Amino acid sequence: MKFRMAVQDITEYRGDVLIVNLFEGVEKPSGATGAVDKALGGAVSKLIARGEFKGKRGETAVLPGAGKVGAERVVVVGLGKKEKFERDIIRLAAAESLKKAESIKAEKVGTILHGAGAGGTDTETAAAAVAEGAILGLYKFDKYRTGDGEESPKKKIKELAIVVRRREDAVAAGRGVRRGEILADAANRARDLVNEPPNVLTPLELANRARQMAKGRNLKVRVFGRDEIARMGMNAFLGVARGSSNPPVLIEIEYRGNPKSDKTMAFIGKGITFDSGGLSLKNASAMDDMKTDMSGAAAVICAMDAIERLGPKINITALAPATDNMPDGNAQKIGDIVRAMNGKTIEIKNTDAEGRLILADAVCYAVKKKMSPIVDLATLTGACMVALGHVRTGLFSTDDELAAAITAAGELAGERMWRLPTDDDYREMNKSEVADIKNTGNRWAGATTGALFIEFFTNGTPWAHLDIAGTASLEKKYRYYPAGATGVGVRTLANLALDMAPR
Ligand code: BES
Ligand code: MN
Ligand code: ZN
Repeated sequence: MKFRMAVQDITEYRGDVLIVNLFEGVEKPSGATGAVDKALGGAVSKLIARGEFKGKRGETAVLPGAGKVGAERVVVVGLGKKEKFERDIIRLAAAESLKKAESIKAEKVGTILHGAGAGGTDTETAAAAVAEGAILGLYKFDKYRTGDGEESPKKKIKELAIVVRRREDAVAAGRGVRRGEILADAANRARDLVNEPPNVLTPLELANRARQMAKGRNLKVRVFGRDEIARMGMNAFLGVARGSSNPPVLIEIEYRGNPKSDKTMAFIGKGITFDSGGLSLKNASAMDDMKTDMSGAAAVICAMDAIERLGPKINITALAPATDNMPDGNAQKIGDIVRAMNGKTIEIKNTDAEGRLILADAVCYAVKKKMSPIVDLATLTGACMVALGHVRTGLFSTDDELAAAITAAGELAGERMWRLPTDDDYREMNKSEVADIKNTGNRWAGATTGALFIEFFTNGTPWAHLDIAGTASLEKKYRYYPAGATGVGVRTLANLALDMAPR
C-alpha cells in the first residue's frame, strides 16, 4: 500500500472509497464529514437520525457516492465518545475503515485525518497514527494458505491518500506518514517472525532473518553459535539449550547512530523458539501458543529495523539469545546448578522458568561490554498475564527515570504499560540454599520474582524489564490487532530510541 498526500476539497477526492468519521452522539456532522454529508444531500445525518449509525468507536457504515462526491463510495467510521478520545482511537478508526474498504474491494482509498480537526491532535501525529493503524490493521499472516477452494483472489488496497485542505498540512502529514510507516512496517515484520510456525522458525532461522534484514544497511549483525556461547561461559543459556537438537544462537545487532559517543544502550529479547517447559513439562493446552515465546527477540530485532530507518543519533545494540526449551535425554534436570557468564551460580528448580536463564547470560554480556541502560523484553511469566491480561505490558525497573521514559514511549505507540513492584523484600524468594540464586520463587508475585532474577545479573546497571507474556499474542482480534502476534514492543523501543537521542 502506497501513501499519498492530496491537497483538495474532500468532496472532490476521486477513488473507490472516501473515509470520513463521526463522534458518537453527534447528530449533525461538521467539518470534512459535514461537507461530505451536505454533498450527499444529508445521507450521513439521515443514517444517524434513523439510528443505523451511532458513531461507536470502530463502527462503520457504507454509503454510495452516487455521483454527488468524487469517490464511488463513502465509508463513515465512528470515533466513539468525544470525552474518551485518545490517540489510539485514530489507529483504531484507520484500521476499521480500511478493513471495511478492503472488504468492498476498494483499491484506491482516500481518508480524512482522524483526530486532526475536532479531535485536537496535531497534523503530523494524526497522520502517523493513521498510517500505523492502516498498516497494522490490514496485516494478515496468510503465506501458508494455498487458497484452494477459496473464492476469487482477494483485492488489496493499493493506495491510501491522506486528504488535507492546506499545503502546509500536507507537509506535516507527509512527515507523520513516513514515521508511522516505518514503525508499523517494523512491527509487522516482528509479527511475521512470531507467527511463523516453530518448525520453520528455529534459532538458526531467526538469525538468518536478522541477517537478511540488516543486509546493506547501517546495522551490523553477529551470530554466536554453541561453541562461542560456551567459550563465553554462558552456561545458564546453554543449560536451556541442552534439551533440543536445534542449536542455540546469540544474535547481536549493532546500530551506531552516534559513533563519537562510547555509550551504547542494550535491547535484550527472550528468544525461546518453542517452550515445552523442558523436563518440567507443560501440559498440552499450555503449549498452544509457545511458538510465540520468542516475541521479545522479534521485538528487539525488528525495533532495529525501525531505528535504522529513523536514524536517531544514539548507539544501540540488540541482543537475542535464541533456543528451544525441550525435554530430551540430554536436557537440563531439576536440581542442576549452572554457572552464568559472570560466575554466579543458579539452582535450577523448574526448567520451565527458562527465559530468565537465557536472559541472565545476555545481560551479563551487555554488562561486560558496558552497555547502559539495559532494557529487556520477554514473554516471561504467566503471572504477569494473569495480572494485566492482554491490555497492558508489565514494566519493572529500578530506575524511575528510565521507567518514565519507557512508559511515555509506550503511550505514544498505544502500547500501554503498568509498573509492578521490585521491592528488595521480594528478592528473598529467589534465595537458594545451595547456589547464589534459584530460578523460581514460590507461587506468589511470580512476575516480580522473575524480573528480579534478571536484575540480579545487571550489576547495578540502569535496567528495565517488560513482561510481554500477555500482550505479545492474542487469541482473538482486539483494537487494531488481528488474532496472533501483535508486534508489541517494536514501536515503543523505536520511540524510546528517538527520545533518548540528542536532537
Ligand atoms: N513462556 C512462559 C511464560 C508464558 C506463559 C508466556 C503464558 C506466555 C503465556 C515461561 O517460560 C514460563 O513457563 N513461565 C513459568 C514460570 C514458572 C515456572 C516460575 C510460568 O509463568 O508458569
Ligand atoms: Mn517456560
Ligand atoms: Zn518461556
